[in-house]
Amino acid sequence: MRGIIPLVMIACTLLAGSMVTGAIESSDFDAPTVCKGCHAEIYNQWNGSMHSIAYLDPVYLAEEAVASRETKGLTDTYCARCHTPIGVLSGEIPPIGPGNLSEISKKGIQCDFCHSVNKSTGIGNGAFAVSPDGTKRGPYNDSKSPYHGSMFSDIHTKAEFCGMCHEVNHPVTGIPIEETYTEWKEGPYNSTTQCQDCHMTHGITHFEANPGKASEIGPGRDHVYTHYFVGGNAAVTGVMGSEVHQRMAIERLKSAATLELVIAEKDSEAEVMVKVTNSGAGHKLPTGLTEAREVWIEVVATDATGKEIYHTGGLDSDGDVGPDAVMYHVVLGDASGHPTMKVWEAESTLSDNRLLPKETRVEKFNFTISDHVKGPIKVEAKLNYRSASQKFLDELFGKGAVVAPVIEMAGAEGTVEVPDKGVPGFEIFFVLISLLVVAYLLRRGEK
Ligand code: HEC
Ligand code: HEC
Ligand code: HEC
Ligand code: HEC
Ligand code: HEC
Repeated sequence: MRGIIPLVMIACTLLAGSMVTGAIESSDFDAPTVCKGCHAEIYNQWNGSMHSIAYLDPVYLAEEAVASRETKGLTDTYCARCHTPIGVLSGEIPPIGPGNLSEISKKGIQCDFCHSVNKSTGIGNGAFAVSPDGTKRGPYNDSKSPYHGSMFSDIHTKAEFCGMCHEVNHPVTGIPIEETYTEWKEGPYNSTTQCQDCHMTHGITHFEANPGKASEIGPGRDHVYTHYFVGGNAAVTGVMGSEVHQRMAIERLKSAATLELVIAEKDSEAEVMVKVTNSGAGHKLPTGLTEAREVWIEVVATDATGKEIYHTGGLDSDGDVGPDAVMYHVVLGDASGHPTMKVWEAESTLSDNRLLPKETRVEKFNFTISDHVKGPIKVEAKLNYRSASQKFLDELFGKGAVVAPVIEMAGAEGTVEVPDKGVPGFEIFFVLISLLVVAYLLRRGEK
């Protein structure tokens, strides 16, 4: 019974959403290559972005298929509404999968979809309305194009535009699945920096002007917003063959956080304090698909001979980060309170310890310095990121079949001097004993 009520409710919610579809055809929209004719630079920035592959993304397609199977198709239009809005608005979905989609719908989140949005009905779960009437909505109030009508649209210049999709709530239980907009709204950037200022400029963590032309045949502008839409995904951008977007994602991850190390030593015990700051992300770190994304601290200590004497946050033989590591992430719970990575099963948030924007946290790590350790000891700390845990990828693709790269976001180094507390001459004494033993064994061998 418990499982049936939510399913019926999902069905009602989704039917309500799909009622308005049907009146729109995918051919009402122009393909991105049409826009390329006069907006080549913007096209090249968008092409290869996560938006351009939001539907063909193999990780998305794999999870969409599992969700559909396990809910008997109830999630089909719900999920795809944000990943191929034209595919859902035109009624090409359901059924799911690229097989039934027009070429235009396969292009994920694209030029003519975003620039035909004429209204937002709120935040989250794909709260957009579109009007493919040939008029392109954008940031200018004086724009003239020989091909299309132009119109100023306030919402395109605000975080609320992105918030229509970058906020995902379970349609039945209401559990937040992705909350990037709310994290931004409740944080220190809400009055100074829109999503566009970091994700649509060259500044990465702040606004940076990009003077130029919005169209090769248009006037010069003081600032043109870029269309790379780069976040942290250096995995799928790489698999889908866009080196530019992959490199930019790594660069963005490397500017998002800082690490500082303070090391104290007392009574043969080293205490390593790692100060980690979310210095550049306008939302929590990590954000987005947080049941999969992992950000964690790795600390390695090695003695003067290079021997490892302490290690936390390394990967084990299954590719998992050990349970003792300090990790920032979200754990969702199912109906019986067990952790789940299947968002459609989510009924609660079991934990969320992610770093708030601009937050600094101090994490402590201790290890014992035994008497025979040769100093000085080198301590290295890293803040690591990966797009998905091995468990998440194993569930979708089979054990070990797909591995997400680990990207170092920030690092710091320090040393611990080891006080000389051994008995003087102890090592020589030890060598002498060894020699005596060897001599004794040799003589026995002679007999
Ligand atoms: C024949 C050339 C041409 C084609 C094709 C074209 N545009 Fe434009 N577009 C322009 C010019 C010129 C401007 C004016 C640029 C300016 O004002 O700086 C413009 C402006 C815009 C603006 C700004 C509108 C505003 O008021 O802020 C948007 C958005 C836009 N185009 C989107 C698109 C999209 C989406 C496509 C494809 C469906 C497209 N354009 C196809 C020439 C074209
Ligand atoms: C995810 C939605 C989205 C997609 C996809 C998208 N745009 Fe935009 N575009 C925007 C937003 C938002 C702005 C305005 C940003 C601001 O002013 O804060 C914008 C601005 C523009 C402008 C005005 C000049 C500038 O860059 O500031 C043009 C022209 C434009 N886009 C064309 C395109 C073309 C062509 C494509 C496809 C190759 C495209 N857009 C894809 C959201 C999108
Ligand atoms: C129609 C829904 C929609 C709108 C509107 C939208 N996005 Fe997205 N965005 C998505 C989806 C879906 C993905 C993920 C695609 C995937 O991972 O396969 C995504 C991915 C991204 C990524 C890449 C994330 C990563 O992991 O690297 C960034 C950055 C991003 N969007 C920023 C924005 C910004 C900024 C805006 C507003 C100007 C915006 N988006 C508007 C749906 C949307
Ligand atoms: C102050 C700059 C800044 C602002 C403002 C900002 N971001 Fe980000 N964003 C970043 C940085 C840096 C990263 C990379 C670190 C990370 O993954 O959190 C990032 C990452 C992301 C990602 C990828 C997360 C992941 O790991 O999968 C998405 C999606 C995203 N941002 C969307 C948004 C949206 C939507 C908004 C507005 C509501 C926004 N961002 C506002 C800087 C910013
Ligand atoms: C309200 C819009 C929305 C809905 C509904 C939605 N998503 Fe997404 N999805 C996004 C955004 C935005 C991102 C990018 C966040 C990030 O990069 O961390 C994303 C990212 C993903 C990713 C990550 C892909 C990658 O390459 O890392 C997967 C997988 C995914 N979604 C699956 C689903 C499934 C399955 C459903 C339905 C149960 C669903 N989504 C429903 C907006 C949505």
